Amino acid sequence: MHHNDNGLALSHSDWLDHHHAVKSPMRASLIYQLGFSCGEKVLEIGCGAGNWTFIISDYIGHKGHISAIDIDVESITIANNRQKVLAKKNITFKKSSLNNFLKSNRDQFDTILVFNTLSYLETPRQVILDSLKKLRPGGRIIIKDTDIASDTYWPICPEMAGKVKTLLLKATKDNITINHYDPLFARKLPSIFNSLNNISINTYPQSFTSIKPTNEDEMHYIQQNATLISKVIKHYTQDDDLLSSWSKMFVSSENKEFTIFDSEDFMYSMTEFVFEIKKL
Ligand SMILES: C[S@@+](CC[C@H](N)C(=O)[O-])C[C@H]1O[C@@H](n2cnc3c(N)ncnc32)[C@H](O)[C@@H]1O
Repeated sequence: MHHNDNGLALSHSDWLDHHHAVKSPMRASLIYQLGFSCGEKVLEIGCGAGNWTFIISDYIGHKGHISAIDIDVESITIANNRQKVLAKKNITFKKSSLNNFLKSNRDQFDTILVFNTLSYLETPRQVILDSLKKLRPGGRIIIKDTDIASDTYWPICPEMAGKVKTLLLKATKDNITINHYDPLFARKLPSIFNSLNNISINTYPQSFTSIKPTNEDEMHYIQQNATLISKVIKHYTQDDDLLSSWSKMFVSSENKEFTIFDSEDFMYSMTEFVFEIKKL
């Protein structure tokens, strides 16, 4: 599951680079849509090795600044090395847990980003509340997360699709995590937002779709998400046939069984849920 040294699933810098490469046009477009301005002061929580940071640094110019923090020492070391090569002067990468940073740092920010990171935290609501206190007047928090139960895989037998979806939705009720990561987290955000007072929310949903011919990177990304689904649903079923039929759809065995990627109709689609939160 591409753990980093802290044992967090899907957080190793190699995986984050791979994921970034698969979605780079979509990510560049999201940053453009979010409308960063020259001179903005930005905090990025859970920056990994800086894939988003370097895109944003171009939009905020030399008068702007990004403080990018991550708890993982290896990711921050890679980010610092990349920064030297790219000669970007408006970024400071820092190894820190977000709790320590939010407690000890006195700066105020125009934008706070929490991309694919709230889904790893035990107290996401409190992190949003603490982040709201760090905003300058008119500032915003941007949260991006995903939900594997909303992914579409096609073609798939309707019975199997129905069983898998039902098991995933059962997991949603239990807050199941895989190596500290809640893969169904995005659908829990509206209830967190509803429990907060005096905020406004904008949405910027992003869709990633892959159809044939699927390249190797996309295939690996999709297989990884399918594996995540197996890891969740196996807590809820004794049906080994279901689990093995699901896995076989994505990885051909030695006798070269047909996989979903071989179908002329192949399509995979997923949504990245993006929310912009402002204080009223
Ligand atoms: C899935 S990665 C996302 C990285 C990056 N935001 C992206 O979208 O590519 C989650 C990141 O959050 C970091 N992280 C998790 N818990 C953290 C915490 N308590 N404080 C700071 N960073 C944390 C992990 O080390 C990891 O780099």
